Amino acid sequence: AMPAISDRMRFWERMLSGPAATRALAGDAAGADAQLREALANREAPRGEAYLIGAGPGDPDLLTFRAQQLLQQADVVLYDRLVSPAVLDRARRDAVRINVGKLPGHHEVTQNHINALLVEHASRGARVARLKGGDPFVFGRGGEELQVLRDHGIPATVVPGITAGLGAAAAAGIPLTHRGLAQSVTFVTATGAGSVDVDWTALARRNQTVVFYMSAAQVDLIARSLQERGLDPSTPVALLERATWPDQRIVQATLGELASVARDAQLKSPTLLVVGDVTALAVPLATTAGEERNAAGTTPRTQDR
Ligand SMILES: C[S@@+](CC[C@H](N)C(=O)[O-])C[C@H]1O[C@@H](n2cnc3c(N)ncnc32)[C@H](O)[C@@H]1O
Repeated sequence: AMPAISDRMRFWERMLSGPAATRALAGDAAGADAQLREALANREAPRGEAYLIGAGPGDPDLLTFRAQQLLQQADVVLYDRLVSPAVLDRARRDAVRINVGKLPGHHEVTQNHINALLVEHASRGARVARLKGGDPFVFGRGGEELQVLRDHGIPATVVPGITAGLGAAAAAGIPLTHRGLAQSVTFVTATGAGSVDVDWTALARRNQTVVFYMSAAQVDLIARSLQERGLDPSTPVALLERATWPDQRIVQATLGELASVARDAQLKSPTLLVVGDVTALAVPLATTAGEERNAAGTTPRTQDR
């Protein structure tokens, strides 16, 4: 008999998708039986592995099929605060869920601790899903986690996700590039005031869209720096708050009024700032999850044009 329920589950999962199943489906009952006996005889300890899964911006319907599949397999799910409850609901019912966003005492779990948890659970044979908001490789430290897994010889799969900039733009009806308005789009972060090392002159050029991640607290600095480098104060901007979540909100302004509008709006986390002419085109698209809220939460500035 097999010791733990989870080991039994994995055994049957392997059987149902492995060579025994192939034989059985082909009508070869004897062959399937032989495969099954062989698998039972050579039972090895299950091998742990890790999935770095992009959870998208919040709406669970924006998960990829692969993300859903692997979430259904994972024994352990490590998630942080950017992962919406609705996405977490898609994990296997009996999976162990570990919040690595905040501990009860409100201390952030350090990246080292997250790395250690990944390695620890995978090393004892679990399939560990590391659910990360947006895409794991866009401002997500997914690269560091992948490196640690590689260093420990743990098989890892990376599943791309819809990064917040793309998800939020779509939800707001903002085309990130648009003929005549924006020929390029830049994803950038301006965290760590004082030590911000971005090329403001490049970001202040016209005919482009700039999406600022993790920068809600930095809007004063951003507005000032871009104007100092010559970007017109009348340039349209948009703050996209909790994009694709049921309570998402779009706040439009001009660069010149950004600082005060942002202050009045009392933005909640997470929020993206988008700078560029394309933001004037914002018209929130109806989503099944947030139609009414969208309509209520939007400042319909563009409608005057
Ligand atoms: C640490 S970064 C992680 C980005 C993530 N890996 C991605 O690809 O979207 C967190 C920042 O992403 C942005 N963000 C993430 N989800 C968002 C959402 N649903 N709405 C608006 N901004 C979001 C915010 O700017 C937030 O400060």
